[in-house]
Formats: sequence, structure tokens, C-alpha cells
Amino acid sequence: MIHVRKASLKDADQIVQVCVEAQYHTYKGLIPPNFIEKTIREFYVKERIEQEIKTTSQDWNGWFVAVDDETETIVGAGGGGFIAQDVSELFVLYLEPTRKREGIGTQLLEAITAEQIERGAKEQWVSVLKNNRMGIPFYEAVGFVYQGEELAHGYPSEIGLKSLRYKRHL
Ligand SMILES: CC(C)(COP(=O)(O)OP(=O)(O)OC[C@H]1O[C@@H](n2cnc3c(N)ncnc32)[C@H](O)[C@@H]1OP(=O)(O)O)[C@@H](O)C(=O)NCCC(=O)NCCS
Repeated sequence: MIHVRKASLKDADQIVQVCVEAQYHTYKGLIPPNFIEKTIREFYVKERIEQEIKTTSQDWNGWFVAVDDETETIVGAGGGGFIAQDVSELFVLYLEPTRKREGIGTQLLEAITAEQIERGAKEQWVSVLKNNRMGIPFYEAVGFVYQGEELAHGYPSEIGLKSLRYKRHL
């Protein structure tokens, strides 16, 4: 069985592990390797994750983790926050690559979303890299509707990476 809960400080190492592995798995062939590594160095390091577990707000609601009860290991992690008063966003969602299509992504998204609804969200957004064939079908399956594309944040415009913006009503 899998259960989803809010992360605590002791989860930081395993969140890093899952997210780093998922970066290579998800973006190989889509993002040049040096930029995958840059993202990992910036976002998926223990000190930063610990801060993000400790410091939550309306802008960042904190990390959620999916735990496999049998092995007591973290197999997925995600989180989001608000981008306007009643508009939330899913900022991050990654699974251990061998654990996809078991419903774990859905469980994590439901927990993140339930808290956002409690905090007042009426609409939820997500950005997904163009051609991400793992993320796009998932978001469409759970009711997100395509709104348009933009240059992906954090990358030089010369490499032309695009993000697709999706939203759904809550
Ligand atoms: C996207 C992700 C979080 C989805 O989690 P998941 O646990 O695999 O998804 P679920 O099992 O809950 O899938 C729910 C439904 O979404 C759809 N779906 C999910 N992945 C899909 C895929 N690769 N292809 C087609 N449909 C898919 C299906 O309809 C699925 O229901 P079904 O399995 O009963 O057919 C996971 O695949 C992942 O970590 N991918 C890599 C990272 C990533 O792309 N993250 C998003 C970054 S923005």
C-alpha cells in the first residue's frame, strides 16, 4: 500500500533521491544534459529541500511524499502553492521511475489539491515541458485543459525550450 503525507525533515534525502533520478529519466533527450545537471544543483539538493520542508506559506504549501508501506521508502514527491488569491499551482511532481502507472501520481496530486482547496483554491494550474510524454497524458487524464505555450523559465531562450500551461477548475 501507498500512503501520502506531508514531508518532515527526515525525508529530505529521499526526496532528493527520487527527484534527481526522475530528472534524468524524464528529461533525457528533451533537455540538454548540462541543463538537467544545473537544475539538479539548484533545486534538488538537501539544504534547499530541508528549507522547503520547514518553511511553508500560501506561496509554497510544502512537500508531500508518497510512501510505500512495505519498504517504508519514498516513491514520489510533489508540492505546489498559490499564484493568486484563489488560484493555485502544482509546481513539482516526480515519481521513482519504476513506480509509474500505479495511481501514485494521482494520489499525490489529490493530497496536494485537497490542501489547496482548503486554503481557498478554485482553479489550479500546472506547467509541463513540451513533449514530456509522461506528464502531459497524466495531466490531461486528471482534467487539466491546455491553455497555451510559453518559453520555459530558467533556460536561455536560444535553446528554445517551451512549457505548456494547463489549468483545471477545482
Ligand atoms: C506524471 C506522473 C507524476 C504521473 O504519475 P503516475 O502515478 O504514473 O500516474 P497515475 O498512475 O496516477 O495515472 C493516472 C492516469 O493518467 C494517465 N497517464 C499517466 N501516465 C501516462 C502515460 N505515460 N501515458 C498515457 N497516459 C498516462 C492514465 O490515464 C492514467 O490512468 P490509467 O493508468 O488507469 O490508465 C509520473 O508519470 C511521473 O513521475 N513522470 C515523470 C515526471 C513528470 O513528468 N512529472 C511532471 C513534471 S511537470
